[in-house]
Amino acid sequence: MNNVDYSQLKIPTHVGIIVDGNGRWAKERGLPRIKGHDAGFENLKQLSLYILKRGVKVLSLYVFSTENFKRAEEEVGHLMGLFVRLYKKNLSLFMDNNIKVVFSGRDEPLPKSVIEARDELVEATKNNTGGIVNFCMNYGGRAEIMDAVRKIAHSGVDVDTMTDEDFRHYLYQDLPDIDLMIRTSGELRLSNFLLWQNSYAEFYFPKTKFPDFHEADFDQAIIEYTSRDRRFGGIKNS
Ligand code: IPE
Ligand code: IPE
Ligand code: MG
Repeated sequence: MNNVDYSQLKIPTHVGIIVDGNGRWAKERGLPRIKGHDAGFENLKQLSLYILKRGVKVLSLYVFSTENFKRAEEEVGHLMGLFVRLYKKNLSLFMDNNIKVVFSGRDEPLPKSVIEARDELVEATKNNTGGIVNFCMNYGGRAEIMDAVRKIAHSGVDVDTMTDEDFRHYLYQDLPDIDLMIRTSGELRLSNFLLWQNSYAEFYFPKTKFPDFHEADFDQAIIEYTSRDRRFGGIKNS
């Protein structure tokens, strides 16, 4: 643990991270992009545990977008292999830390090996109560909203009386809104991440590339979040 007094800080319930900059991190070092993904995924484990230990209840990680299938076959294949390893090899890490793992995203066109590893991890961790990690994999915000609309249309539910809260139940996961959204690597965009859930999120855009974004960098994000005045359209709160 670092030297930051968390009792003085506001802890967001739901943090989202757009895991970005792996490729540039590798390039800076004269390495192939896939080495950046290896480093990024290694960092993901420790960082996720730290964030949940600090009192965050839900952590949504954008690890692969629906658009990322446009990348070179070699890179996509490497990432799919990393997912299988991450989900299979870290069961004890999630179990020892009482973490429930859920996923958001479409199945198609994920390889069968990834789907199987994903489903086994979900099943094994489903009764854990020490925090939730929501892997957004083959995820797109528009796809999620479109899929919800289709489910609603097919369900025959009365749409005239439907509220925002009712709509949420049709999303991939029934989770609270994002409070703090972090995108590493200095890019200033959402790239189709959790469009519904990010409506009132506080945004934080560190320049650090994801493989170098560690515990102390997360502390800085929380310090910044604590200083924000969240008004939700109301009056100033100070
Ligand atoms: C993000 O890093 C990781 C995934 C998309 C899985 P990038 O691969 O986008 O890295 P940059 O943005 O090219 O540096
Ligand atoms: C968004 O990052 C998707 C993930 C981090 C998984 P990208 O690197 O794919 O986004 P763009 O292309 O820069 O918008
Ligand atoms: Mg990127």
